[in-house]
Amino acid sequence: MNILITGGAGFIGSNLVRYMVKKYPACRIINFDNLTYAGNLENLKDIENEPNHVFVRGDICVKGHVQGVFEGYSIDSVIHLAAESHVDRSILVPEEFLKTNVLGTHALLGAALEYWRTSRDKRHVFLNVSTDEVYGSIADGSFSEDSPYAPNSPYSASKAGADHLARAFNKTYGLPVITTHCSNNYGPYQLPEKLIPLMALNALEGKELPVYGEGENVRDWLHVDDHCKALDIVFQKGRPGETYNIGANCEWKNIDLVKKICAILDLLRPDSPRRPHANLIKFVKDRPGHDLRYSIDSSRIRRELGWEPLYLFEEGLKETVRWYLDNPGWSARVRSGDYMDYYEKNYLRR
Ligand SMILES: NC(=O)c1ccc[n+]([C@@H]2O[C@H](COP(=O)([O-])OP(=O)(O)OC[C@H]3O[C@@H](n4cnc5c(N)ncnc54)[C@H](O)[C@@H]3O)[C@@H](O)[C@H]2O)c1
Repeated sequence: MNILITGGAGFIGSNLVRYMVKKYPACRIINFDNLTYAGNLENLKDIENEPNHVFVRGDICVKGHVQGVFEGYSIDSVIHLAAESHVDRSILVPEEFLKTNVLGTHALLGAALEYWRTSRDKRHVFLNVSTDEVYGSIADGSFSEDSPYAPNSPYSASKAGADHLARAFNKTYGLPVITTHCSNNYGPYQLPEKLIPLMALNALEGKELPVYGEGENVRDWLHVDDHCKALDIVFQKGRPGETYNIGANCEWKNIDLVKKICAILDLLRPDSPRRPHANLIKFVKDRPGHDLRYSIDSSRIRRELGWEPLYLFEEGLKETVRWYLDNPGWSARVRSGDYMDYYEKNYLRR
């Protein structure tokens, strides 16, 4: 089986590619990524020579690239993660989000439809990896798969657009699309533009820890390994045309989470002159359109597919903070931008 994973050099994508390459040695994993600022092949260093892992640099928005990878690697199924993913950037440059997330997803759906048209007897899956942010903000209770879409940022609006297209390709053309809505992920290899690595690395360097507003925003956290397992189960057993929420019932106010990270650093770095790291917290002007609370009801995937998260948040967070401390080279190259040379150095000059 040839499985195309798009966005496989990003945070969740690289964790998923590693998981799938190791779990399914008889499957070929074709990792298709354009290596934007968010793509880092160094994330995959330990598996770059595995015989069932192929990296293809390409843009989901370019029809020729997408058709080329389907034909070149006889793609049977797709797990689609490639996206512009950072809400703050979407407020600055929404067009890039529309292009990649909406038009790019459309190009992929079209290529899958065209390529699989002649082999409808085989089991194909197009797994569209979406987010809980398409549901907007919720004051009480949790989002179910039936909650209405109410995106509040250009990022979530563009992901909603992608989801609607994916749904339409299923309803109109019968493409075997499954969509997942996952809550906030944390774990290794996440770019330090996102909350947890940003706070851990800033605190380590004695920099300010900028917290939006009064830090009252609530996010529902899931370890990236638990997300990868959920995607695998949905990919194997999910029903085409269905949607599945993925979350661990693990809600934290941003301010409490940041204090937790500081306390972990105090423990892991007892001799640091920055202790107590919580003194570095600084409240900054709130993000426009900032959703107050996300909360995900994942009972469908638990009940129907038997998935459940394994990580306890306290342990997962500690392990994650330790990973950033133990990998200062990775963090430094990501922060300096040097990681962007990795492709040229390792793939083009061999
Ligand atoms: N991070 C989260 O907490 C979270 C939660 C729920 C859902 N998601 C979704 O999961 C997916 C992955 O998220 P992430 O946090 O790993 O993102 P990321 O920003 O770390 O990675 C995105 C990857 O997509 C690639 N990419 C971007 N544009 C491309 C294009 N035009 N063609 C090919 N590749 C391109 C980038 O190079 C990068 O490797 C996204 O679709 C996101 O919406 C993320």
